[in-house]
Amino acid sequence: MTVISAPYEINVNDVFVNLESVFEVPLHLKYEGINLAGSVKLKAALEMVLAAERDGTLSPGATLVESSSGNLGVALSLIAAHRGYGFVCVTDPRCNPASRRLMEAYGARVLVISRPDKERGLLGARIDYVRRLCDFDPDYVWLNQYVNPNNWLSHYRSTAPAVAAEFPGLDVLFVGAGTTGTLMGCARYFREHHPRVRIVAVDSVGSVTFGGPALTRHIPGLGAGVRPQLLDEGLVHDVVMVPERDTLEACHAMARHGFLFGGSTGTVVSGALRWLAGHPDGSALTTVALAPDQGDRYLDTLYDPEWVEQHFGAPRTWDPDVTPPVSAAAPRDSQLVTSAS
Ligand SMILES: Cc1ncc(COP(=O)(O)O)c(C=O)c1O
Repeated sequence: MTVISAPYEINVNDVFVNLESVFEVPLHLKYEGINLAGSVKLKAALEMVLAAERDGTLSPGATLVESSSGNLGVALSLIAAHRGYGFVCVTDPRCNPASRRLMEAYGARVLVISRPDKERGLLGARIDYVRRLCDFDPDYVWLNQYVNPNNWLSHYRSTAPAVAAEFPGLDVLFVGAGTTGTLMGCARYFREHHPRVRIVAVDSVGSVTFGGPALTRHIPGLGAGVRPQLLDEGLVHDVVMVPERDTLEACHAMARHGFLFGGSTGTVVSGALRWLAGHPDGSALTTVALAPDQGDRYLDTLYDPEWVEQHFGAPRTWDPDVTPPVSAAAPRDSQLVTSAS
């Protein structure tokens, strides 16, 4: 029997999904969504809150404020509710309706910023808004996931060692990039402890993180309109940029095999398939991809035919006669950028 007294005490760190049955490639997914916040962001949220309590930045009765595309917001909402803090989440219209409702159910206030900054997009506008809130009221505490070292440290201490323990012969690790906390924590761990492991970053087309042009994106989670300050590109071997349509197709393909994953997971899987297809020795490699989220929060978006049609045109992946989505054997228009270090 497992008995918990805090909602963040369930955080399963050793479940891997073998995707061979779905895509016919040797790829294991580390399932990071098995916790009550439903995503990998619980780790960073908890590490940041506990560190702020230890150093005195956060004291009883304080109100946390954070910019989030949704998942960190959900994680902070449940931690704040349990530990007696207020929480204001500053997000944008890409935040899933289900995430918004969840945050509100935990007692958080959700502010949706819809006007992008001219150069720094919606993320820039969200960050500016948080800054203004903190200037206006010094009782707000901004943990700032974009610069907070405890964001990447949570993955250095937990996620990466868990992968290394289960896959001692690991060749390649695929990690999605948002704030790059997960990416940097894992990259630093492997560089120090298992330097032969290649770290492949997966990002969404339209994100500026690895130098691409800013384009409209509809799926929250991965990608950024402002280059993440945590990022050290020298720790990353390759970068794969995934169009959002490929994200959709990867999610739908896995759902048809009974695995309902979120958009970040679809992007990482699609990027991993692309990378493997571009490497002739791919099938002989031991590879793991980090799956940051579950899919149920995306029922109103990625898994809703109307939403798909509205944002991506004809929903070809709903037609059962259409060949399965991302095929490792036949890459379409994803871009593989190699930035060997
Ligand atoms: C579901 C989900 N996956 C992945 C990420 C990106 O992780 P990281 O911020 O550690 O780069 C985010 C970021 O918000 C997210 O919400």
